[in-house]
Amino acid sequence: QTVDWDPEDVGKGGYDHYMLKEIYEQPTALRQTIRGRIDTLNDDVILDSFPPGSFDEVTSVQFVACGTSYHAAVYAAGLLNESGVPAQAYLANEYGVSEPPIPENALVVGVSQSGETADTLEALRYADAVGARTLVVTNVVGSTAARECTDAMYIRAGPEIGVAATKTFTSQVASLALLGERLIRDVTGTPSRFSAELLDSLSRLPSDVQQTLDDSTADELAELFDGSDAYFFIGRGLGYPVALEGALKFKEISYEHAEGFAAGELKHGPLALVTPDTPVFAVFTGQHTEKMLNNVKEVQSRGAPVIAVVGDESEEVHRVADEVLTFPEAPAYASGIMANVQLQLVAYHAARRLGRPIDKPRNLAKSVTVE
Ligand code: G6P
Repeated sequence: QTVDWDPEDVGKGGYDHYMLKEIYEQPTALRQTIRGRIDTLNDDVILDSFPPGSFDEVTSVQFVACGTSYHAAVYAAGLLNESGVPAQAYLANEYGVSEPPIPENALVVGVSQSGETADTLEALRYADAVGARTLVVTNVVGSTAARECTDAMYIRAGPEIGVAATKTFTSQVASLALLGERLIRDVTGTPSRFSAELLDSLSRLPSDVQQTLDDSTADELAELFDGSDAYFFIGRGLGYPVALEGALKFKEISYEHAEGFAAGELKHGPLALVTPDTPVFAVFTGQHTEKMLNNVKEVQSRGAPVIAVVGDESEEVHRVADEVLTFPEAPAYASGIMANVQLQLVAYHAARRLGRPIDKPRNLAKSVTVE
């Protein structure tokens, strides 16, 4: 007697797609990312390669990245700016062609899952050529970026097979938060004002993400809005990169029109696209809630249904939204990660309903090694 088996199905470990498996691996990936790096008792970050003082001379940070990694970079820049460390996130392909001035003592941080993206390597090589210190945050030990940069920090998410990045985004954001806290301490001389909260919420994140996955109603929601004209995603502050990432994931694998906007920009153009057939996903992180609610009302008054992606205790948001996708209440930093997990599931279920080849979307590659 013989048993038929396909090595690819074995790799998927019982899931229909690698993407879904990797979405569900996020609690484990996060545990690996943070293992040994947080001392909650003493409110401390422990990064073996970057002991206290590693960034004493740094005065500002420039992030360079592409795709999903760029969204993680926008997130990290937001976190640093909130703590008084000047930081900016650049699309590596634009950085590479415009070659902006790099201030003295700026740290140039590449964010790249693979460490092989040509545009990101080009940007890092430019920074290196003009004498800047470079650091890459990557998943791949021994990758080109890891070899070429002055320093490397590994996100330890484990291999990711699905073309659409999921668990690596989550682990990148968590790694960048830890690196960010080290930078803030070295550059400003004091822990960030949200340090204790940040470290505590990070250490709770694996179980909070697990709960988000267990309770998700993203499948039913994808069914409800199947066949819409377009899908919009809005957010503010740390919710903005989550809106961008939610839209990117959605368009990559469903082939439907999806756009992410800064919620405050709606009135400067995107509002013209809003109709009853364009569901709007609104990312609530606990920051700027009143302004976000005003934006929700703006789109609702044009007939668009609003799906709030929000902490489970935010009563006012629950009342105003047409639908909700929830996650355990947490500080803004962790809320954004959990909101993104819900949006990954929405994109997955929408694409599955449409019968798309989820793990290998047309025209896209896991790692783009041409400029
Ligand atoms: C490709 C992938 C994206 C990824 C981007 C950057 O476009 O399809 O999922 O975000 O490259 O990749 P990196 O390995 O540099 O993070």
